[in-house]
This record gives sequence, structure tokens and C-alpha cells, in this order.
Amino acid sequence: MEKILVLDFGGQYNQLIARRVRDHKVYAEILPYTTDLETIKANNYKGIIFTGGPNSVFDMSSPHYTKDILELGIPILGICYGCQLIAWMADGEVKTAPVSEYGKIELSVTNQTSKLFKDIPEKSVVWMSHTDYISSPPDGYEIVGKTNDCPCAAMQNAEKNIYAVQFHPEVTHSEYGKQVLYNFLYEVCGCSGDWVMDNFIDNTVAKLREQIGSKQVVLGLSGGVDSSVAAGLLSRAVGNQLTCVFVDQGLMRKDEGDFVEKTFTSLFDMNFVRVNCADTFISKLKGVTEPEQKRNIIGEEFYKVFWDEIRKISEDGFFAQGTIYPDRIESGKGKSDGKANTAVIKTHHNMAKMPDDIKFCGTIEPLGDLFKDEVRAVGEKLGIPKELVWRQPFPGPGLGVRIIGEITAEKIKILQEADWVLRDEMAKNGYEKNLAQFFCVLPGVNTVGVMGDHRTYENLIAIRAVTTDDFMTADWARIPYEILAKVSNRITNEVDKVNRVVYDITSKPPGTVEWE
Ligand code: XMP
Repeated sequence: MEKILVLDFGGQYNQLIARRVRDHKVYAEILPYTTDLETIKANNYKGIIFTGGPNSVFDMSSPHYTKDILELGIPILGICYGCQLIAWMADGEVKTAPVSEYGKIELSVTNQTSKLFKDIPEKSVVWMSHTDYISSPPDGYEIVGKTNDCPCAAMQNAEKNIYAVQFHPEVTHSEYGKQVLYNFLYEVCGCSGDWVMDNFIDNTVAKLREQIGSKQVVLGLSGGVDSSVAAGLLSRAVGNQLTCVFVDQGLMRKDEGDFVEKTFTSLFDMNFVRVNCADTFISKLKGVTEPEQKRNIIGEEFYKVFWDEIRKISEDGFFAQGTIYPDRIESGKGKSDGKANTAVIKTHHNMAKMPDDIKFCGTIEPLGDLFKDEVRAVGEKLGIPKELVWRQPFPGPGLGVRIIGEITAEKIKILQEADWVLRDEMAKNGYEKNLAQFFCVLPGVNTVGVMGDHRTYENLIAIRAVTTDDFMTADWARIPYEILAKVSNRITNEVDKVNRVVYDITSKPPGTVEWE
């Protein structure tokens, strides 16, 4: 498979660069600038992209790389800091720019025969964000683009296939950014575009088979997208050498545990172990009302049950998990080599270390280089049901963070029923696709109501629905009143012990998505 290396110098758009390359059907992986030259040589990259970064190349404490990389004969594209770095490595001159450029700037292509600018007009808008600039390009490098304030906005050494742009082709504000990347991949690197999901699945399955051999693999399955897709891939690779452990703490949505079990036992060849431990969880949570304490108990108990189960299964096998690329970046783990002996288990807000007495010969993260939507595409190809592949995020502590105050079996049941009505109504109205996440909350408040001629004093249900791209910030969703009216009506009629429904109209910040 053709591969492009995105060499990371600390820029904020690095994942986006890799993403854009893959959008052009070429596989890209990101490695830190500390990766040695031998590793790079050994990987047979079709091309290398130097990313941007916040530093100045003439500050010796900033990320640098040996100039030998320019002599490997591998095509290189430098972006922003990466562009300046190439100039600096090849003995050009980089200085603080007299005028910094931020935002949309007009680029003039000064050599339209440059492969990098094929099918790009002479004038176009690019996205700039820099305080240094190349004041004098190195010998052998020709300026191929400029702006009013940046005399060397693009340069090339066509003979060596080295190209550099001061602007950011990876962001959508650069009008022809996609084309610049396309040109680099296809005109300069000579890629053929073999990155398609079928290839990814075939290659990964082959690699997994080779790595796992006749050993056993244990995977913790949460019912979320990532672990489900990892399970699907591993099952395709090694069938019933795979054991999936599914800890059901009774805090999932209505019927979800059964759905996960049915899906994996009927669709895939694997051993499936479901540990039903709702009663243990509820007894551990008895009388606990403080949100963090609840979270900690749920987390600790989960891992206790999980590790106990794992201990029963395997000694000399592999431990697998559904880590995806953004998780690795968040946890600072960088590139996974599949050889780590101690696994750090991803959950959203906490990381759990595998106890030392559990001995596996390695950790496998088959989705470690993929972004979420790519994981979904793999899941669909593997035939995993849409409900799982397109499942909205669900917190590790489950409904536990949506029941305010003490958690009891009765409250879980009320919340599951109300939440099911909300989901059903959204599905019937085809409104799900407009929302990033939606669910019910049981605020633990009783209010007075009237049903028939009787006074009631029953539970309040809150509806939470948000739109967001990244969950760091979120807006409350403007669900049409007619749908809300129907949901409210159905919840108060169909769910026992609920007499009032409210809609949460708080954005994040100041509110979080979850209530606890
Ligand atoms: P907050 O409440 O922090 O939620 O605004 C942002 C996103 O994270 C999810 N979330 C969690 N996911 N374990 C998880 O796996 C957790 O402990 C957890 N807490 C919140 C939340 O559902 C939303 O998608």
C-alpha cells in the first residue's frame, strides 16, 4: 500500500493534513519529528509532508530534522513551518517577516508550469498564519508563488522533488488547497490512489493473522463504535481465537446489552462473554450522590469485573482494544507499534492501566491510525449494523451520569423507558441526523401534577439534545416544537412515574453535555 508520511513539527492541523491525503485515496500516517531517519527510510514512503508548527526555525530549541532527509530522493512538501524548515536546512534565509500574514490572503502563482500548481489559476485565496518568512530561498530552489507581503509563498526544487508552501493547503479556506495536495500526491509523488476501505480491511486482516498466529486475543467490547469495529476486524482475521468481554453494568440504554450480544454472537465468529453485574453495581452505588464519587465507583468496579474476567481467559495471548487515532493523540501515545506490554485502556475521561499480574504478549489496536468516520466506513464494510456503526457517543459510566442523586434500579428503569421514547420519536421523524447527541436525564426531582382527577407527585424528565462538531463546545439543538410536544406527551403517558418533561436549553459552555 502506498504511504505518505506526515512528519509532525507541532502544528495544529496535522491530523487534518493526514485526513486530506486520505481523502485523495492515499494512506497517510503521522510520526513525530523525533522519528529517526532509518525508520523513515525503512517505511518506503511515496512522499513526506513536513507540517506547520508554532516555532521559529532559527530558534535552535525548536523542532529540527537532519538535512539528510532532503537527500533521500523521497518527494517532500513543506507546509508553513515545514516550508521554512526546508529553506533553513538547505541554507536559505528565514527571518521574522516585516508583515505577518493571518487569514485569507491572495496568492499569485509565479510559475504556472510548477507541478504543484497544475490546474490552479494564477490568483487564488490561501490561508496564511505566520510571523517568519523565507527572505531568500536556498540555492537550487525557485520561487513559484508570492503574496503582497510574502515574496516566497511557495518554492520548489523540481529536480529533487522538494516543494514548500508558506500557506496551509489543508484548511478549507485555501481555495485550491485540496488541488495543491492532490498535485503533490499524484503529480509529484506519482501515487496511484490505492487507499480504499477494502484494501484497509484486507491488509489489516492479513497483518493481524500474521501477528496473532495461533494465539488468543481478548477484546473489551463496550458496544460503542470503535470497539465494535475492532471486534469485527479481529473476528474476520482470527475467528474464535477472539474472545470479546462485554461488561454489562446495567447502565446501558434500554435493551442495548441484548442488542450488542445478539449482534456479535449472530454475525461474527468469536467467543462472546457477557458479564451481567447490574446488581453489584447498584449495591456499590447505594446511598452515593456525589457525581465524581459515582463516576469513580462505576469506573473502578467496571475494571475490577473486567480484569477478573480477563484473568480467566488468557495468559499468553494478545490484548486488543478499539483505540482510534484521535485517542492516541489525546493520550500522547503517538504511534502504536503493537508491542507495548502494558495496555492503557481508553475511556473518555480516564485511563486505566492493566494490572501487572495480567501478562499478555502484546496489545493490538487495529484502528489506531483511523479517524472516526473512517472507522465507521470500515464498520459498514464489515456488515456491522447501522445502529452500532452510527451510534452516538455514550459515556463510559452510562446512564449513571444521567441519573442525578442516588442510582437505584427503579430510576434506571424510568430513565431507560423515557430515553427509549425519545429515541423512537427522533427515529420516526428522521431527526436523528440533525443531532450530535440526544438523551433523557432523570434530575431526581419530583414535581406536582394532575392526571385525571388525581394529584400526582412524580418524576421530572429532562431532554438534552446538542449539535456540535467536536463536543468541546456544543449548542442546544433547536428540535421542532411539534416533535418535542410528541415526545413530552408520549413520555408522560407511556412511562410510569413521570408527570413532567422539560427541555434543556443550555449550551456548552457553560453547561456540559452530560448533567454529571
Ligand atoms: P461533557 O459532558 O464533558 O461530554 O460535555 C462531552 C462528550 O463526552 C461524553 N462523555 C463521556 N464519554 N466517558 C465517556 O466515554 C465519560 O466518562 C464521559 N463523560 C462524558 C459525553 O457523552 C459527550 O459526548
